[in-house]
Amino acid sequence: MLTIEKLTSGYGKLTILRDLTMNIDAESVGLFGPNGAGKTTLINAVLGINPAWSGKIIFHGEDITGLPTHEVARRGIALVPQERELFPSLSVVENLELGAAFIPHAKDNWEDTLEEVYSLFPILKERAKQPAGTMSGGQQRMLAIGRALMAKPKLLILDEPSLGLQPSIVNELFTILHDMKKKIAVLVTEQNVRESLRAVDRGYVLENGMIAMNDSSDKLANDPHVLEAYLGI
Ligand SMILES: Nc1ncnc2c1ncn2[C@@H]1O[C@H](COP(=O)(O)OP(=O)(O)OP(=O)(O)O)[C@@H](O)[C@H]1O
Ligand SMILES: [Mg+2]
Repeated sequence: MLTIEKLTSGYGKLTILRDLTMNIDAESVGLFGPNGAGKTTLINAVLGINPAWSGKIIFHGEDITGLPTHEVARRGIALVPQERELFPSLSVVENLELGAAFIPHAKDNWEDTLEEVYSLFPILKERAKQPAGTMSGGQQRMLAIGRALMAKPKLLILDEPSLGLQPSIVNELFTILHDMKKKIAVLVTEQNVRESLRAVDRGYVLENGMIAMNDSSDKLANDPHVLEAYLGI
């Protein structure tokens, strides 16, 4: 579905991603690594937010390298960014509607998708009329995920979705992610490696802008390096 081939990217003179190659099929994939490893940089390069200096990004057979973000979104990749980007003064339902507004294949039957999002996150239905900015942190995270789903993506990318959430909500979030992967492909970056390894099929470990490991969740969960560096054992 998504193939990244020998991607190099960075900021100014600073190279962050070096010859990075990875592949995501119809599955759920984790992207782990320490702070500053380049996880957000990688995601932003896929979305056309950061430039690819060299290498290729292929989605469903099409070269999308260098396409503007809205064109990438139209092709079926949705991002839930590390920093929430909601419209705080608009209501919950208005934010959700905007998630579909600029995506041709999502716009026409957005009300059906809305019901699906409401069944995933009932709190959003309860609070449909509430200004997004007055929702709690966890609720806003759910709204951000709901809004991304409104675009009917083939691939949903989540950048640190559990950051700042209390453990019970994190649990709920990973259960939802686990269920979601039956329908769409998911790429998720996470500090919470333990929980997310339960929710994903496979994971990449990114260190210093390079893939250090690439293995099934089971293998990663038992790997001595992962245990020591990411699971604190
Ligand atoms: N706009 C920018 N200009 C210059 N350097 C940047 C910029 N954004 C990120 N960086 C640098 O790029 C490196 C990778 O950052 P990135 O945000 O991709 O890491 P990350 O793996 O997502 O980390 P975290 O787990 O903290 O979110 C860091 O050294 C960071 O300081
Ligand atoms: Mg990041």
